[in-house]
Amino acid sequence: RILILDFGSQVTQLIARRVRESGVYSEIKPFSVDPDWIREFAPAGVILSGGPASVTEAATPRAPDMVFSLGVPVFGICYGEQTMVAQLGGRVEADDHREFGRAYVDVKESCGLFDGVWTPGERHQVWMSHGDRVTALPDGFRVVGVSDGAPFAAIADDARRFYAVQFHPEVMHTPDGAKLIGHFVRDICGCPGDWTMAAFREGAIQRIREQVGAERVICGLSGGVDSAVAAKLIHEAIGDQLTCVFVDTGLLRSGEAAQVVELFRDSFNIPLVHVEAGPLFLDKLAGVEDPERKRKIIGGTFIDVFEAEAKKIGGAAFLAQGTLYPDVIESVSFTGGPSVTIKSHHNVGGLPERMNMKLVEPLRELFKDEVRDLGRELGLPDGFVGRHPFPGPGLAIRVLGAVAEDRLAVLRKADRIYLEEIRKAGLYDAIWQAFAVLLPVRSVGVMGDGRTYDNVCALRAVTSTDGMTADSYPFDHGFLSHVAHRIINEVKGINRVTYDVTSKPPGTIEWE
Ligand code: XMP
Repeated sequence: RILILDFGSQVTQLIARRVRESGVYSEIKPFSVDPDWIREFAPAGVILSGGPASVTEAATPRAPDMVFSLGVPVFGICYGEQTMVAQLGGRVEADDHREFGRAYVDVKESCGLFDGVWTPGERHQVWMSHGDRVTALPDGFRVVGVSDGAPFAAIADDARRFYAVQFHPEVMHTPDGAKLIGHFVRDICGCPGDWTMAAFREGAIQRIREQVGAERVICGLSGGVDSAVAAKLIHEAIGDQLTCVFVDTGLLRSGEAAQVVELFRDSFNIPLVHVEAGPLFLDKLAGVEDPERKRKIIGGTFIDVFEAEAKKIGGAAFLAQGTLYPDVIESVSFTGGPSVTIKSHHNVGGLPERMNMKLVEPLRELFKDEVRDLGRELGLPDGFVGRHPFPGPGLAIRVLGAVAEDRLAVLRKADRIYLEEIRKAGLYDAIWQAFAVLLPVRSVGVMGDGRTYDNVCALRAVTSTDGMTADSYPFDHGFLSHVAHRIINEVKGINRVTYDVTSKPPGTIEWE
């Protein structure tokens, strides 16, 4: 197993993810972790993450010195390289030429880290994000890769198996970076690469049992994959100490509520309370047009309803949530500054504090596709696990402008046709998220002999791996005109259909 020491980079979790993808178990600990803990953990290798600090300033984070005398390989990334160099006797200097974004590394020499992965003479695209740079190497090190802005872009000490890079191999913008991490953990550290989701499941079950003990847990089901996987996992860990509460906001797509109830109550035999609160939500949303206000109202109402149900159930000390890693950090900022909230995704933020409950969040370190793997591992049906993500505020942020039942009904019909056609064409799994949006715009059309003046519907479909960035899905024109034709003919109230070709950034996936 691998120890990842975290210096506060926004993408440290991506390192853990790359390690998991290589079939190796890792744990992330803050750089200040107790050296005794490290000794006991006995890592086969250590990765030092990036971070926002500058080693050229006083009192900045350092790795415990013992990390360099454990006799195991160490891999420093970005700030990790700088602190490694500084701690081992080299020099790092502040540089007014900051380097952010895409860069190219020329592989100069072979070394253990590159062995079988990167070859001298090759040039690799990488992602850089640093203000300081290494200016003198510690004894034993040599330069093995350079970039325009970083003459010490990759350095190696093969004798001690210490390696470091100035770029971020863990991010997607370094296309061949994951291979370096996989090679480091498997070949250099000698981890067998046989760790799987099944092992994660066992570990997670143990951790939930330890955390919860004999207490009772309440879990809110949203109808989505994350809360479903969390609930199933927790139920495996503590059985009927868990009660699920499904607050039906009335903002779900057609047929979804029934499916959740059937799966959990009937197939899994998990205690489930189904609260039909649609009218209440609509009442609170009446006349509200601002997206963030909608989110706040829905979040607040959800909390009220949920709290009332929890009181009825009584006696629960823990609240379970299907929080994923991207929910923890919504926008990855490579600058190290605080990440900016583009949209308030924490629909039920504040719930645990208000209810004075402790949190169980067994999926906190996972990414969406990993949660899907875990869901399959737990026996959730493929159709459920493979479902596109669906936002907590539901269709309320897809009926742009004021939300009302009649507009929801129009949107539901269009959305159903669109998804039906996507499934029929075998495209559902190739798409991260597809949905229809009802615009607060009317346009003129002609149907039969008459003039129409009706709503416009936008179709959105994106590909993505984590929801943080996305590209519009390139449907062929024939498919889109077929869907548009069906929607306009079958859904009363829509007379025009458009397709959204915006990527994220600069657009977001949802329209509100
Ligand atoms: P955006 O629109 O920010 O969406 O590009 C990224 C992902 O998050 C989902 N999303 C939300 N999920 N509550 C949620 O639970 C929200 O308020 C919310 N807003 C967006 C969106 O569907 C996409 O998967």
